Amino acid sequence: MVLEDVARKYDWNPWYFQLRDFAASFIDDAKAKEQAARTPDQHIVFMRLGFGEFPRWIQDALSPVVQHVQVFAVMPHSIGMIHKDGHDRKCALNVPLPGADKGIMEWYTTQMFDTHVFSSSETISRVTREEVAIYPEKWKDPGDIRTVIERPTLVNTDVWHRIDNSDNPDCRYVLSLRFKDNPTFNYVDSLLTP
Ligand SMILES: [Fe+2]
Repeated sequence: MVLEDVARKYDWNPWYFQLRDFAASFIDDAKAKEQAARTPDQHIVFMRLGFGEFPRWIQDALSPVVQHVQVFAVMPHSIGMIHKDGHDRKCALNVPLPGADKGIMEWYTTQMFDTHVFSSSETISRVTREEVAIYPEKWKDPGDIRTVIERPTLVNTDVWHRIDNSDNPDCRYVLSLRFKDNPTFNYVDSLLTP
């Protein structure tokens, strides 16, 4: 696997800028830190808008049907757990918000892990049994594929991945759009490629 298999990057356009500014208006470091302090991991869903809750212009410019709009927050100097996104989620369209340029998204494409299903009140996520066994210590090896989400990027969320924000003194925020009926990474990319 190479970067192309897990991340497809797109050029900024007015719609992506509008999306970025809309999501950035929700950001609040103090609130994010307070919320993170209540969770074992330092990586949280900071804001989530479901169908009917997000503005119509978000859907109007896009052919895949948006299921929900989320903002993720990652605390300064933290590393998230290796995971696959909830409910067998295949892909997500991520747009960088403040701090995103200083965190690294890492995918593990060569290592075999056993799945441990983890559920919270908000979502179901799949983490690795291997990392659960050493928790709260983090898996030491960096991913095989690493990238910074510095522009709109379709990410493959069905391959083991994590966010390494250890070199970032700031919170890292990313907007993430999730699609109805869980379409594949390649299919959504074909719809998003101009
Ligand atoms: Fe994820």
